[in-house]
Amino acid sequence: MKTRLLAISGSSRKDSVNKRLLDAAVAIARKQGAEVTVLDLRALALPLYDGDLEAASGLPEGAVRLKQAIREHHALLVASPEYNGFFTPLLKNAIDWATRPQEGFSSPFTGKTAALLAASPGALGGIRGLPALRVLLSGIGVLVTPGQMSLPLAQQAFDEQGALLNAQQHKMLEGVVSELLRTTLASASY
Ligand SMILES: Cc1cc2nc3c(=O)[nH]c(=O)nc-3n(C[C@H](O)[C@H](O)[C@H](O)COP(=O)(O)O)c2cc1C
Repeated sequence: MKTRLLAISGSSRKDSVNKRLLDAAVAIARKQGAEVTVLDLRALALPLYDGDLEAASGLPEGAVRLKQAIREHHALLVASPEYNGFFTPLLKNAIDWATRPQEGFSSPFTGKTAALLAASPGALGGIRGLPALRVLLSGIGVLVTPGQMSLPLAQQAFDEQGALLNAQQHKMLEGVVSELLRTTLASASY
């Protein structure tokens, strides 16, 4: 069976550099034999998490879709910008909704693996946002691979086809993706 990856960007912005880095990782993962679904968080139209809203109307449709998508995949490939040292509220809100209970289902995160990416126009590549994301995902039962990648000066990092111009950075991204696939296979029950 092919490994199924769910690719999520913490930015849904049209010209997002994180979407570009994620797309480059997705191309590599497909080349390495994975089946990949790219999920646009904006398309889920999730409201800001609100316990009163949840009590009154249950899970929004977007949250049900997100939980289902996570359940249907073996692993997550996540890229997020750094906002003031953290990953984005768009991503946090989506994860929060996805952890809310749903009758008849256990947590969609249990037993999943994940790899983390970040990109920024700045010199640090968004790396400061990844530790908090790692802690969050680990805390909800996701095995996060040790390897990760942050891409500095990301606006100049890609060619017109969306591939990384720098061979070393491309190799690093290949390494992150193959570690995710290896770890997922090693921990899989499929
Ligand atoms: C509220 C806010 C805070 C930001 N904080 C940081 C930061 O701490 N470090 C950084 O490298 N870039 C920071 N940025 C700049 C983002 O890295 C930049 O906007 C980037 O393009 C966002 O990612 P995207 O292109 O994938 O949307 C911040 C941007 C915003 C809007």
